[in-house]
Amino acid sequence: MRISVQQASQKLLDGHVVAIPTETVYGLAASVSHPEAIQRIFSLKRRPLNNPLIIHVADRMQIDSYVETYPEKFSELCDRFWPGPLTVVIPVKMETLPSVIRAGLPTAAFRLPNHPVTRAVIAETGPLVMPSANLSGKPSATVPEHVEQDFGSTFPVLDGGPCQHGLESTILIWSGSEWVIGRLGAIAGEEFAPILGYAPQFSNGKSSQKPICPGQHYRHYAPKAKLYLTDEIPHECRTVLGFEENSYPKEKRIIYLGSLDSPSSVARNLYHNLRLLDNEGIAAAWIDLSFPNHGLWESIRERLLKASQ
Ligand code: TXA
Ligand code: MG
Repeated sequence: MRISVQQASQKLLDGHVVAIPTETVYGLAASVSHPEAIQRIFSLKRRPLNNPLIIHVADRMQIDSYVETYPEKFSELCDRFWPGPLTVVIPVKMETLPSVIRAGLPTAAFRLPNHPVTRAVIAETGPLVMPSANLSGKPSATVPEHVEQDFGSTFPVLDGGPCQHGLESTILIWSGSEWVIGRLGAIAGEEFAPILGYAPQFSNGKSSQKPICPGQHYRHYAPKAKLYLTDEIPHECRTVLGFEENSYPKEKRIIYLGSLDSPSSVARNLYHNLRLLDNEGIAAAWIDLSFPNHGLWESIRERLLKASQ
């Protein structure tokens, strides 16, 4: 069911859950002031309760009441990347935020989105928590139809068209002494060094010393189809997810992820292409891994690895 900005805002103020667009992916939104609605997000998504949520704000001042002191370079990071697809995880005054949002942690994740519709809604409602609007483990939703595939056609969705980035925000976590990347995403890792003076490490949660994103532990972004990552397409393969510049045996079904010249358009269409496999009843597909290793490609590769696990 498609709803307007006014209807979405009213429902959120009344303590309901609705799906709204952002520039990264669609989000399943609830007001930070409605803990029952936040609980409902976890059950709708079938999301484990130990996986905390991102708080989305319309301006930086909305964060002030939750935070005692900001970590070093916080304001430089915000000046450079907000509004936009950066999420920062920082220590908060625990009593100011329901524990369910933080999964009991002494930190919280914040993002200031850069989508006019998202900002129009938050201007009416105040801060919103928003995980991606997909069932836990499935590819994220980048158009309203994806939300309806996962939650049914009667679920309220505010249609903001296709998402500009198509990949989730990049998450930076303050470790107490430095920033680390908790999730690769729509901002390439290399973009942080000029601001921070060092290249933040990607902490995938495998090294126990560093703070991590609980979400990194779970299977993610995965269609039902079995995915194989490969540099060479094997004989038995019938469906290939590949690139316009690469050549493949003629008899295969090729789903083009896009051009090697345009990682941003590959990212934008990635979840749509992964969902396409299930919509077409394809049981297995081979993903051509011969693409570059730097910039946004790193985030794309990480999503494909997760999707194939
Ligand atoms: O682009 C995005 O970030 C989208 C749109 C809707 O804004 N949202 C999104 O939310 O991707 P979600 O819930 O799918 O992913 C949030 C990630 C999870 O991996 C979670 O573990 C991590 O953020 N996270 C949230 N709070 C955290 C905290 N206090 N410490 C560490 N990780 C945290
Ligand atoms: Mg998600």
